[in-house]
Amino acid sequence: MSADIAVVVADHVMEITFTRPTKKNALSNAMYGVWADALEQAEADPAIRAVLHTGEGDAFTAGNDLQDFMQIASGTASGPRHVGRVLQNLARAQKPLIAAVNGLAVGVGTTMLLHCDLVYITASAKLTTPFVGLGLVPEAASSLLLPQALGAKRAYAMFALGEAITGAEAVTFGLANRAFDTAAEARDAARAAAQALVNRPPQALAHTKALMRDGEALGALMLKEGALFEQQLRSEEAREAFTAFMERRPAPYAPG
Ligand code: COA
Repeated sequence: MSADIAVVVADHVMEITFTRPTKKNALSNAMYGVWADALEQAEADPAIRAVLHTGEGDAFTAGNDLQDFMQIASGTASGPRHVGRVLQNLARAQKPLIAAVNGLAVGVGTTMLLHCDLVYITASAKLTTPFVGLGLVPEAASSLLLPQALGAKRAYAMFALGEAITGAEAVTFGLANRAFDTAAEARDAARAAAQALVNRPPQALAHTKALMRDGEALGALMLKEGALFEQQLRSEEAREAFTAFMERRPAPYAPG
């Protein structure tokens, strides 16, 4: 198991924790690999009744590792990439998915919440989806699910302008169940909810989830988004944005 992600199964709940706090839990390809395998294990094992995601430190996750993105953009990445498998597994999951959002959630850190059945969050958490600013496009079926959740105007402002919403606002908009003052409280609530689900009839839970969301259609949309995402990932504007992040300066897109 990678040192940067922990997968623990106890009392019929799988808990997946992003454990790379010095990098705000940015997700490397290796972390996605462990995460994808864990979601597959949870689906296959009848003894696992719920999957809970959380993060160590003050961030839930800063999203995809931008060094990894830079390697792809510059053609120096090698080996299989696992993010697509994570996203498809989230879309098609039959087991309940829960998140305890302990702070900042960027990119996939926010869009994965659209696939969670229950979300508990700190009131001060900041949720952002800054795809356009990175020269990228929405992923994880968020091009459909975020406008559905927030309305098209607010979703566009998040995608295109990089506007944030707080954990407290996420509750108001229906993106999260409850907001808390501390990460520990959010985690306790998520764990209590997971244990409550463990004791519910699993077949009825699975049918209810399948009635509420069309995993097949969401998976298909992810492939469509993914094709554009991959194209943009290799674009000059994305390379410039990744370089700007690494050089700690704004990316210059003003018309010349
Ligand atoms: N990929 C790689 N490294 C990242 C990262 C990411 N997505 N997000 C943060 N880090 C690293 C920083 O480079 C820094 O590393 P260093 O200490 O070795 O220099 C460390 O994590 C702490 O980040 P820092 O920027 O100093 O913290 P902050 O509190 O000022 O800002 C963020 C936190 C998350 C707002 C900021 O780091 C950020 O905008 N990250 C990029 C998020 C992003 O665009 N993700 C991709 C979405 S698709």
